[in-house]
Amino acid sequence: MILKDIRKTETLLFGGLSCIFALHRKGKLLDKFVITGGKKLRGKIEISGAKNAALALMPATLLASGKYLFHNMPELRDIATMGKLMQSMGVEVTKGEHLLGLNTFRVNNFEAPYEHVKKMRASIYVLGPLIARYGQAKVSLPGGCAWGPRPVNLHIEGIRKLGARVEIEKGYINARAKRLKAARISFDVSSVGATGNAMMAAVLARGTSAIENAAIEPEITALGEFLVKMGAHINGIGTTKIEIEGVDALHPADETMIPDRIETATFLVAAAMTGGNVKLENCCPGHLSAVIAKLEEAGSVIETGNDWISIKSAKTVKPVDVITAVYPGFPTDMQAQWMALMSIARGSSVVTDSIYFDRFKHVPELLRLGADIELNNNTAIVKGVKKLTGAKVMSTDLRASASLVLAGLVAEGRTEVLRVYHLDRGYERLEKKLQALGAEIQRVAGQEY
Ligand code: EPZ
Repeated sequence: MILKDIRKTETLLFGGLSCIFALHRKGKLLDKFVITGGKKLRGKIEISGAKNAALALMPATLLASGKYLFHNMPELRDIATMGKLMQSMGVEVTKGEHLLGLNTFRVNNFEAPYEHVKKMRASIYVLGPLIARYGQAKVSLPGGCAWGPRPVNLHIEGIRKLGARVEIEKGYINARAKRLKAARISFDVSSVGATGNAMMAAVLARGTSAIENAAIEPEITALGEFLVKMGAHINGIGTTKIEIEGVDALHPADETMIPDRIETATFLVAAAMTGGNVKLENCCPGHLSAVIAKLEEAGSVIETGNDWISIKSAKTVKPVDVITAVYPGFPTDMQAQWMALMSIARGSSVVTDSIYFDRFKHVPELLRLGADIELNNNTAIVKGVKKLTGAKVMSTDLRASASLVLAGLVAEGRTEVLRVYHLDRGYERLEKKLQALGAEIQRVAGQEY
């Protein structure tokens, strides 16, 4: 097992990425994807580790000093951003192939500055562990997001309930506490992030806490199981009511990341759109029951094993309505990709996002490819068209840009998806995996647009 001393690699890895940011700011020279549509996807690929699990588990290591090793780590820009944030706190970060080593012995800075947090909202996950372990945290408020308001009031409410004194000043959450005290936290809204922060805070609190209306996304279950490996006492993991008996100290542990269910679902929809026949390995079918059910309703034939899913797609796509919901419902992170599939369905469908009311930045871009979509608040009426036609389209956020790539795979002629750095945040080597399935897609570096 080779773990390169990250100091060198890190500059390459993290330094390299910040230079991309620099280029972005200065010269607007950004990678794009050039896709020639019409190829059926065939063959098999492996799914990477879950971005949204890794982004929760990495900050959890701040709860106990020592060395941690994560296996099956996805190689993504967001992981690099979290690594850089933790490094700025004094964490030593080492990297190997799909391996990440974290050494939290020398944590000496308890601040998550705006420069980091503005790049990635998940940076707020350091709030709970810092206040629980070090009694202080200064975390920038995330600021605006590509789509709509994404408040963090529930994150703050959670640690306040556990006894932290919290002030919001100059765009920062300033939290302090001698030692957190157990409490009953009942969330009005089921929030993945707020549940994660409250769990990471409560594990070191004095007494037994309860978290009600907790999120049960697989990434939160993975966090709970990792905390237990670190010595935490938690009951009800995977249920909406979690009980946490605080302990005086935790210890380091190693973990293997669960597969990325959104990457898996994105490839399933890509296969269904292209009339393909694909097998996905190293994934978890059990995390995707809602998506699999909708794909079967749309006409695809799906088989599953312990850690694989195969899809044979139908000649024509049937229109199927979806309403996004918290897990195990249909994920909002698949809403845009589903809309791309419905844009070529034989008939009309209704796509509603009940989690984010205006997560529809992909719609005007899909219209540029010839889709027929009418938006009304958080509902889109999608009239399937006979064909999409290639054009230049602009990425705006991670999942919206995934829907544009999928549409490009079936659009007639050439599609250019600009600003693919959005995709690099959450899809590991997307174009390489699509090429392995027979797609005609190229990454074109540093293009003026
Ligand atoms: C997580 O974000 C995911 N991110 C998101 O995936 C995903 O879209 C979202 O959960 C919903 O599934 C990560 O795990 C890093 P929430 P999070 O708190 O935790 C409201 C992707 O594409 N809310 O569950 O930020 C909020 O506005 C990303 O990989 C409050 O009102 O989502 C939303 O309507 C994008 N106050 C709802 O709860 C709060 O304090 C659910 O948000 C927090 C949330």
